[in-house]
Amino acid sequence: MYSPSIFDSHFHAFSPQEPQRAPIGVFDSGVGGLTVLRQLYQQLPNESIIYVGDTARLPYGIRSQTEILQFVREILHWMHQQRVKMAIMACNTSSALALDIVRQEFDFPILGVILPGAKAAVQQGQRIGVIATPATAQSNAYRQAILEIKSNVQVWQVSCPEFVPLIEQNRIHDPYTTQIAKTYLEPLLHQEIDTLVYGCTHYPHLSPVLRSLLPTQVKLIDPAVYVVAACSQELDILGIKNTHPPMPTRFAVSGCPQQFTQSGFQWLGYTPMVEQVCFADAVVS
Ligand code: DGL
Repeated sequence: MYSPSIFDSHFHAFSPQEPQRAPIGVFDSGVGGLTVLRQLYQQLPNESIIYVGDTARLPYGIRSQTEILQFVREILHWMHQQRVKMAIMACNTSSALALDIVRQEFDFPILGVILPGAKAAVQQGQRIGVIATPATAQSNAYRQAILEIKSNVQVWQVSCPEFVPLIEQNRIHDPYTTQIAKTYLEPLLHQEIDTLVYGCTHYPHLSPVLRSLLPTQVKLIDPAVYVVAACSQELDILGIKNTHPPMPTRFAVSGCPQQFTQSGFQWLGYTPMVEQVCFADAVVS
């Protein structure tokens, strides 16, 4: 059973007559979605956000579609209880494996990162590399999305299973991370890619390492930038863009809140207030 938290009274301050004041729900397995949150702060500074990190169950990228679907449904049910006006899957793995299925199941719009990322990639290059989690790479979601938009480009996808654990352990500047990044990029450099898509929201955290290994002419595409632009458009179309000052961002994780507070500080530059939630409870309540 979901138990109310200290944040509830605060967040339920908006009334159904003022849907523009309702929060946007953003979720990822862990700190990856913070790259999307940072874009929201930049592009949509008036929006109130609820950020979910399913840290007890990460990494998502080695999970089956059945597991991902279950986790995503639990999180979206919980977000529904928090009365979000829109949700962003700040997670490529969920966007690849679950978005098309769950979109029909909820009464608020749900945006994924893959289509906005694919659209941006075809505008930038012809020889497109995608680095992603094993589940996203295996799903072929990026290749399909890119080729559907533009059929005369080439796409190579590389699965990078070690990146998410290294990022979550904050081993960005560990020489081992550079070494493994070299291995993952090698086949893409061999194909002389002109564009590289971050096919996992965790990977922009590795940008100093990846940039140092790529020729300067290779363009890096961060789908976070484009999913937030799509979100802004959607809010305009629906007439629910917030014009009032936002509430402080609420952070809810399934794992250890203290650990998330620490990594949150590193990526956000302020100390987030983090609560622990059992998302599975949302479905039965
Ligand atoms: N950041 C997520 C993604 O974009 C999930 C990574 C993971 O947990 O494996 O796929």
